[in-house]
Amino acid sequence: MRVLLAAAEMAPVARVGGLAEAVSGLVRALRDQGVEVEVVLPDYGDVKLQRQSETELESPWWTGPTLLRSGRHRAAGDLTLVDVTGMARPHPYIDEHGQGWPDNDHRFMAFAAAVATLTRHRNPDVLHLNDWHSAAALGMLPERPPTVVTIHTLGYQGHAPRSWLEHLPVGTHHFSWYEGCNPLAGAIALADRVIAVSPNYAREIVTPEGGMGLDGRLKAIGDRLVGIRNGIDTATWSPAVDPLIAAPFDTTDLSGRVVCRDELIELAGWSAPKPAIVAAVTRLVDQKGIDLLVEAAHYLVGMPARLAVLGAGDASLAASLHELASAHPESVFFTEGYDEALGHALFAGSDLFVMPSRFEPCGLAQMQAMSYGSLPVVTDVGGLHDTVVDADAHTDGTGFVTDVSVSGIVDGLHRGVRSLRNANRRRAIQSRGMSIDWSWDAPASQHIELYQELLDERA
Ligand code: GLC
Repeated sequence: MRVLLAAAEMAPVARVGGLAEAVSGLVRALRDQGVEVEVVLPDYGDVKLQRQSETELESPWWTGPTLLRSGRHRAAGDLTLVDVTGMARPHPYIDEHGQGWPDNDHRFMAFAAAVATLTRHRNPDVLHLNDWHSAAALGMLPERPPTVVTIHTLGYQGHAPRSWLEHLPVGTHHFSWYEGCNPLAGAIALADRVIAVSPNYAREIVTPEGGMGLDGRLKAIGDRLVGIRNGIDTATWSPAVDPLIAAPFDTTDLSGRVVCRDELIELAGWSAPKPAIVAAVTRLVDQKGIDLLVEAAHYLVGMPARLAVLGAGDASLAASLHELASAHPESVFFTEGYDEALGHALFAGSDLFVMPSRFEPCGLAQMQAMSYGSLPVVTDVGGLHDTVVDADAHTDGTGFVTDVSVSGIVDGLHRGVRSLRNANRRRAIQSRGMSIDWSWDAPASQHIELYQELLDERA
């Protein structure tokens, strides 16, 4: 089976958020299960490929020249990178002030055009698009292979000026959206299947509360919408073999975890006693509920607990975290940015891991936290609902589930901190989470079944 998979991110080549992790994890698992996957990414610059070949791709007049680089990336495997005018930038989407690049519509429409052209050349068995960035390709392909579009988030739909409809001759009306052009809306209507990244997200997005304007369209496609939960990339996220943490550990021997915890206390510049360490590794955006966490932290500093946060994104959210950390240096530690080693240290050394998301299509960090023995405290939304079982409400609990509010989050943190006091109970919750197979093996098999279903339908 040959699949052409297009995305705007793939770890570690281009990484802003969970999209990058999800794409690399899925691709690795699909390849392990025998699927031939050609990954197509935008060429943001500075990516080294081995045995590289360069070709110019014919393209519509409006994109300007399109250059392809194909070769092998040391971590991501075989890649095809698409360079169009203005694609190479220090950040895939935003400038140094956090504003979207003004030509993002052109950059990604041209990327989508290249994906469409490549699809014609390669004639794969299945075309797999991810999020809005390549979605417009379906408006440029009069004939196409069976196509899957994965929605990693409805938070970004690629809204563009109406004039772009001119370049989307196939199913144009599906892309027309109020006064503009909506690439994701068009792709939802045209794709053979739409995958939401968790079953609960698939249920949420057909409602006005969760659909971000696209609920009607998503409802209209009926059972062409399916939910498949993401996995985590266990090659990177296994505490027993993780080279980035201070000492390895697993369910049978947690002594390495104590070493990791001590190291985290040292990294944060804290002195010993305060019991609970609550960690967050997150994009600093509205979706992730960081403003709620900042408010909850005012209560947290009064508990026997500390907060360590790593993340990048909105300047104002970063500023309030900096403020919190300087007001309470013994209780709050904040590093702004992306730091792989510190990220791993936070999963391995924390007692609790908080995700106060307003919405969360799947969420990967809660699964990483459980694998690393940090008890998740999460809101009851999207994939968090599917992956974390409340330990106060159920005997098979793996964490603490709350509603989306400051008081909900404070309550969840309270309950989490309290659970740590009973060593046996804590251990039970922890080993349940650590023993679950969060790998991509099963979700990748579900993808393959779905691809096969589409091939059978065509035949
Ligand atoms: C986005 C979503 C997140 C999901 C990830 C990968 O980042 O916000 O919930 O896990 O994509 O699908």
